[in-house]
Amino acid sequence: MKTHIHSWVLVPLLAVCWAPFAEAQMKAKDIRVEAWWKHAVFYEVYPRSFSDSNGDGIGDLNGITSKLDYLKDLGVDAIWMTPCFPSPQVDFGYDVSDYLTIDPMYGTLEDFDRLVSEARKRDIRVILDFVVNHTSDQHAWFLDSKSSRSAAHRDWYIWRDGRGPDQPPNNWLSTFGSPGWKYDPATKQYYYHYFYPEQPDLNWRNPDVEKAMFDVTRFWYHRGVAGFRLDAVDTLFEDPKLRDNPPLPGKDKFGRPKQEEKYNKKLPEVHQALQRLRKVADEYDAVLIGETWTKDVKQLEEYYGNNGNELQLPMDLRLTELPLSAKVFREHIKAVDAARGWPTYVISNHDIRRPYTRYGDGVHNDDIAKMMAAFYLTLRGTPVMYYGEEIGMENNDPKRKEDVKDPIGVLGWPEEKGRDGERTPMQWNSEPNAGFSTGKPWLPVPESAKTYNVEAESNDPRSILSFYKQVIHLRKTEPALLDGAYTPLNESDANVIAYLRKSKDGTILVVLNFSASQQNPSFDLIKQGFASAKVKGLLRNAATVPDGTLRSVKLDAYGAYIGRVSD
Ligand code: NOJ
Ligand code: CA
Repeated sequence: MKTHIHSWVLVPLLAVCWAPFAEAQMKAKDIRVEAWWKHAVFYEVYPRSFSDSNGDGIGDLNGITSKLDYLKDLGVDAIWMTPCFPSPQVDFGYDVSDYLTIDPMYGTLEDFDRLVSEARKRDIRVILDFVVNHTSDQHAWFLDSKSSRSAAHRDWYIWRDGRGPDQPPNNWLSTFGSPGWKYDPATKQYYYHYFYPEQPDLNWRNPDVEKAMFDVTRFWYHRGVAGFRLDAVDTLFEDPKLRDNPPLPGKDKFGRPKQEEKYNKKLPEVHQALQRLRKVADEYDAVLIGETWTKDVKQLEEYYGNNGNELQLPMDLRLTELPLSAKVFREHIKAVDAARGWPTYVISNHDIRRPYTRYGDGVHNDDIAKMMAAFYLTLRGTPVMYYGEEIGMENNDPKRKEDVKDPIGVLGWPEEKGRDGERTPMQWNSEPNAGFSTGKPWLPVPESAKTYNVEAESNDPRSILSFYKQVIHLRKTEPALLDGAYTPLNESDANVIAYLRKSKDGTILVVLNFSASQQNPSFDLIKQGFASAKVKGLLRNAATVPDGTLRSVKLDAYGAYIGRVSD
């Protein structure tokens, strides 16, 4: 495996800031120094829903700071916070009206600084969300841009004449259900928006836009941010000729004829811009995580850059779209593991139905949640968890249209219910509102919060939370789980995924039953260098090894087994 000498050992200022990390890593790895983000567990916090410190029903930065000990205990090394900047909240923060401060609803810059410094005391880094493609229509840049055709910021957005009276410049659609163009009667032109009309697309072909946006990252790097998660990177550029997208058969979930997003998505210019953004990040030893939706591993590979000069961690979001099938997952992981670049695995986020609900069969949901933890936290790569996954939070979808907060849920009801269900408050205890807030939470907590919560699960060694803590602990204490090569076993098994993680420090076996029926896979590890393999169990759920000789592993429905192999 490639070793990586990371730049922060060369940057004195940063080396001082993060000296404890440097020392620990130097000790653990002799002369090798791995990039910290390769071995980190990332945890996505949705600030509105994590912890409300002032009782207004909306989570805030001080709430997050108050939960850092919990995150430390869980084994989290870095938190990615979704946008907490000033915003009209049309898209709950993804419509930023000022990139350079904190929205009062979440706190102040001082609260932010305190969060970063308290996190640092616990060796936790803070990653911010950078909404690169668009601003809010209330951002000062857009207000000026809209004010007249000759305004200084006019060309910071994408303004065009219509094709004719009441006809937009072309057929592009907003992914959020409306046309892609909005007419401005004052200046008699249309502006382009891939998301809500309140989220006008920036014109990344204008160098002033790029400079201003790169300066935004510098501002936060100077405040101690360790990197960014980049929002919607594939929408950064549009075809300058504004060619119509080709039609596709069928209708989308908003009832519109489908089209291939050929001219407004994934343009090659995206990669050049990411390379330049990466150069700025490298000045600060920062990590860039990508919201990278890809149809296959080839597309994912492109985001690493030809020389590793784009994103260090493009998220494998394709993983979240796969059905719970041993065959499908095995093939996908094999391809991602073989691709260039370090894998970044994700099973959920604030836009995707929670895995507890998505994979759950109504009978074995807890076992499935544990099996998935044993899976993506033991693969070769960096995991990005989503808050609440570790306690088995379910999707709590709105029951009535009038309760929906996410505008796409209003527009697409009932087929598209929006994303409220996966954004409900973190469940801390069995008190009212799951201990999230003393006020009325902005989204309701489900009944299941009475038993699926941090407090109750902390006291139960068999809980999903206890299982997560143990898997994360194993990741940190078994070197093979960090650096070891990934070797799939029994590749024709239709129900069980099994693999070794093997390094010079040892070999770990992972066996996972992706089915609801009992499985008894057997193993022959002669080819892997074990003439008479024995196994010592490290962690298991619904699984046993009869005599410790590793002839077979008995797994009940969705059982998971992790053991250390020796001769
Ligand atoms: C992706 C974000 O994750 C999502 O929540 C948001 O609505 C869109 N990008 C637009 O910013
Ligand atoms: Ca764009």
